[in-house]
Amino acid sequence: MTAGSAGAAVTVPRAPTPPPAAPADVDTVLVLDFGSQYSQLIARRIREARVYCELVPGTISAEEIRRRQPRGLIFSGGPASVYEEGAPRPDPGVYDLGLPILGICYGMQLLAHDLGGRVRPAARREYGQAILTVDDAQGVFQGLPSALPVWMSHGDVIEAPPPGYRTIAHSLNSPIAAMAGPQGRIGIQFHPEVGHTPLGREILGNFLGPVCGCRGTWEPANFIERVVAEVRDKVGEARIICALSGGVDSAVTAALVHRAVGEQLTCVFVDNGLLRRGEADRVVDVLTRNMHLDIRRYPAEDRFLEALEGVTDPEQKRRIIGREFIDVFETETQRLGDVPYLAQGTLYPDVIESTAPDTNHAHKIKTHHNVGGLPADLRFQLVEPLRYLFKDEVRQVGLALGLPADIVHRQPFPGPGLAIRIIGAVTPARLETVRAADWIVIDEIKRSGLYHKVWQSFAILTPISSVGVMGDGRTYANVVAVRIVTSDDGMTADWARVPYDVLADISRRIVNEVPGVNRVVYDISSKPPSTIEWE
Ligand code: XMP
Repeated sequence: MTAGSAGAAVTVPRAPTPPPAAPADVDTVLVLDFGSQYSQLIARRIREARVYCELVPGTISAEEIRRRQPRGLIFSGGPASVYEEGAPRPDPGVYDLGLPILGICYGMQLLAHDLGGRVRPAARREYGQAILTVDDAQGVFQGLPSALPVWMSHGDVIEAPPPGYRTIAHSLNSPIAAMAGPQGRIGIQFHPEVGHTPLGREILGNFLGPVCGCRGTWEPANFIERVVAEVRDKVGEARIICALSGGVDSAVTAALVHRAVGEQLTCVFVDNGLLRRGEADRVVDVLTRNMHLDIRRYPAEDRFLEALEGVTDPEQKRRIIGREFIDVFETETQRLGDVPYLAQGTLYPDVIESTAPDTNHAHKIKTHHNVGGLPADLRFQLVEPLRYLFKDEVRQVGLALGLPADIVHRQPFPGPGLAIRIIGAVTPARLETVRAADWIVIDEIKRSGLYHKVWQSFAILTPISSVGVMGDGRTYANVVAVRIVTSDDGMTADWARVPYDVLADISRRIVNEVPGVNRVVYDISSKPPSTIEWE
């Protein structure tokens, strides 16, 4: 592999977040992040309202905000107390910009504190659903009922609003649950971004439209021409490669880059033998035929299986699969000659996570990002055309680029593939068993019209054997578990209440059609406390 003419190894640091990607006819709102676990969700809700939005550090300078020309600002919640030493604060110049501001929870307390009101600890922490009584149905509450269920999670309350502000809603435990002041500045003590506030979208929509004057013209497809021009600019006449995984993100990345630089793009598909039945062929075939991509396919099943032999620890499986992938990728891309650029399907949530304050770093339960990901010191310059998009927006871009719906709307599939759905050691025979069971689960879920309604549906091969009876004979064979979950983003999930008839069909077919299986169980655990995958 080479990097430029000298061929020396160059570690490319992650680029700082560049300026906003919104085209001129699209309005922007900035979310100032003060460390809330919901900040990303606020940004998503705003995008859903078709307003372009970026999440920026709460300490962003007023000058930088002015440069980005937003129509309004949102101050997120956060775990701190405004009167604590070292509590995160906005640049005071932010208040001189004349922009509407919606302060949510801690964000409201910042508004109150910074503009001359008073905040104090609540007699007791308020957590959970509360009924909000709207005293003045203006601003964010226009057109809404006078009593609304809302989600509260706060330890401080507003004792007195700043001069010029009035109380516009209250709840049992928060006498000032919402306040409004001049220049479209509004504070709300509850969280409109979470599902537990059923009219939260309308409340945010009222801020974006009537208060900020945003037009709601953002569409992910707006983004295509701009990104294509950026990629073309950056890559020039050089060559670029893209690693395909079989998933949506890498397929859309490749399609975008291909639109930008055509034959300068070479795609690399490392077939690790851990994909679903027929998946590798289907992906390569569609992307070659429909999208005219130049794909180099490297069959590496034997190598991956050999490396995984006897390995039972889930994290070790992930490490091995990650390492083998990088080995094959490096060896094979070296043969491609001088290729300075690498396209990666990094999404906005990854960008946010890598730049978020420490308070946002969740405890690592599984090392997801080590698998299928490439180390930072590869000798390539990165091109990340999806770095401003959320997953659902990537799907819209994929459709607009002409990718087939069944590729774009497929359920997520983990990088380590079926290896983490075989509990215990991975062998060719066990792979075949889980693959056959998985095929049936997907087939039945599609037949029942549930495929797009659930987040994921799959089979797990457990390490348990159980006694059964088939015909007149005793069997002692494998137990397969079926996992079907609903979720918005994979962070939390619930087991899907699939009709018994569908479960019955899945079970009957698995036992009849998959050799060596005599029992099927359905996983009725939510996440948390379980996770979606078993390993
Ligand atoms: P968990 O099991 O952590 O899964 O609840 C959440 C989502 O992440 C997927 N997942 C992975 N994806 N590499 C990936 O690329 C991994 O190692 C990995 N482990 C889990 C899982 O399928 C679900 O969508």
